[in-house]
Amino acid sequence: MKITMIGTGYVGLVTGTCFAEVGNDVLCLDVDARKIAILNGGGVPIHEPGLEAMVRRNAAAGRLRFTTDVDASVAHGSLQFIAVGTPPDEDGSADMQYVIQAARNIGRRMQDPKIVVDKSTVPVGTADRVRAAIAEELAARGASIPFSVASNPEFLKEGAAVEDFMRPDRVVVGANDERAIAALRAIYGPFMRNHERFLVMDVRSAELTKYAANAMLATRISFMNELANLADRLGADIEMVRQGIGSDPRIGYHFLYPGVGYGGSCFPKDVAALQHTANAFAHPLQVLAAVEAVNDAQKRVLVDKVVARLGADLAGRTIALWGLAFKPNTDDMREAPARVIVDALAALGARIVAYDPIAMDEAKRVFGDAAHLTFATSPLAACDGADALVVVTEWQEFRSPDFDELKRRLKSPLVFDGRNLYNPPEVRAAGLEYFGIGRR
Ligand SMILES: NC(=O)c1ccc[n+]([C@@H]2O[C@H](COP(=O)([O-])OP(=O)(O)OC[C@H]3O[C@@H](n4cnc5c(N)ncnc54)[C@H](O)[C@@H]3O)[C@@H](O)[C@H]2O)c1
Repeated sequence: MKITMIGTGYVGLVTGTCFAEVGNDVLCLDVDARKIAILNGGGVPIHEPGLEAMVRRNAAAGRLRFTTDVDASVAHGSLQFIAVGTPPDEDGSADMQYVIQAARNIGRRMQDPKIVVDKSTVPVGTADRVRAAIAEELAARGASIPFSVASNPEFLKEGAAVEDFMRPDRVVVGANDERAIAALRAIYGPFMRNHERFLVMDVRSAELTKYAANAMLATRISFMNELANLADRLGADIEMVRQGIGSDPRIGYHFLYPGVGYGGSCFPKDVAALQHTANAFAHPLQVLAAVEAVNDAQKRVLVDKVVARLGADLAGRTIALWGLAFKPNTDDMREAPARVIVDALAALGARIVAYDPIAMDEAKRVFGDAAHLTFATSPLAACDGADALVVVTEWQEFRSPDFDELKRRLKSPLVFDGRNLYNPPEVRAAGLEYFGIGRR
């Protein structure tokens, strides 16, 4: 099938590439000429395991192309996927300008019937707005061409995006039009050969499903963070509690890890956007208000622990920081807890020496020429002469450090483990002081 992917970011690039991988003819559009130039030059602008080889393979086969040419992109696909960003507006609502722009671009140019699919995470009611925008543009040029609008929210995770897309838990499609449902069923067929995972529902339910999923996951994280902070005060060990409740199949183990708060480009903005929608319908979500408040506070918990141990004046102190990305296997730093932690430590006078396997270039872009932040070439090099080690992201390579060597490198032997990666007795046995999140 001929597919156009509008927006070539994390979701658009992965989705477009995976559709090409199973034999479709995919054209990816972006307004960012820099991204398209990188892709046309054989590179990939984001870090995502397995993606680069797949992009190369499909580009070489002629099934995957990249463009900034809107005319060509509208002409290409009978299926037009909208996968542009929906960043938070100042009031927390999702900024829909890019989605509506993409819809208008289609309406202004289409010459044959199109199935327009909202893949971006969009507030309930967006499909109606997209339909209205296209209809308005068609009417403005006196054209009458049939089109349908469907919702197909994306559930892939950054860091495992290709794997998630190739083997989805479910594909949610919101549509009330048989032609659109049949087309989407056909293009997703190759991704569910083992068993059917295609869920068809009405458009509004599909739009709400995406927000509900992220809100639920964020709720589990904030719940555990709040309990971890209580465990700290009670002298209980949250890791034991996690295992004790996760073993209940009604609860399960996923997303029960306490830490330094959730970040990234999705949970914070989606929780805020759902709240905004709920408020607009005079039905504020009380649970989610608490989830957000707990998360905002949690991003500072590690800094509070450093202050409790070293004092509030960190002038002259050096802090080694492991992990800048909001989670492992990505270079994404949007809403990353590391941003809050670096800024808070710097505000107290500390110098930070950071290491991240992938996200240091992105961090340089995010923090600019901040004098208080430098970057090390290895995890251990970051610790040389530092007053403490702060672990922020759970990259594999941080999971089993040589604690004796750490003790030798650090000026004062303090480890603040923001992801509960380590076994406290083991760390202490090496002569280090250990501070986790809700650990004994
Ligand atoms: N990143 C994730 O893990 C993830 C997962 C599921 C859903 N989502 C949702 O998918 C959507 C896209 O997220 P993302 O992380 O890929 O964003 P992104 O910022 O990485 O990519 C969006 C791209 O759209 C481009 N764009 C903007 N306006 C355009 C237009 N009119 N025409 C063509 N291109 C345009 C931007 O230049 C950018 O490259 C968001 O709604 C997000 O909430 C993201």
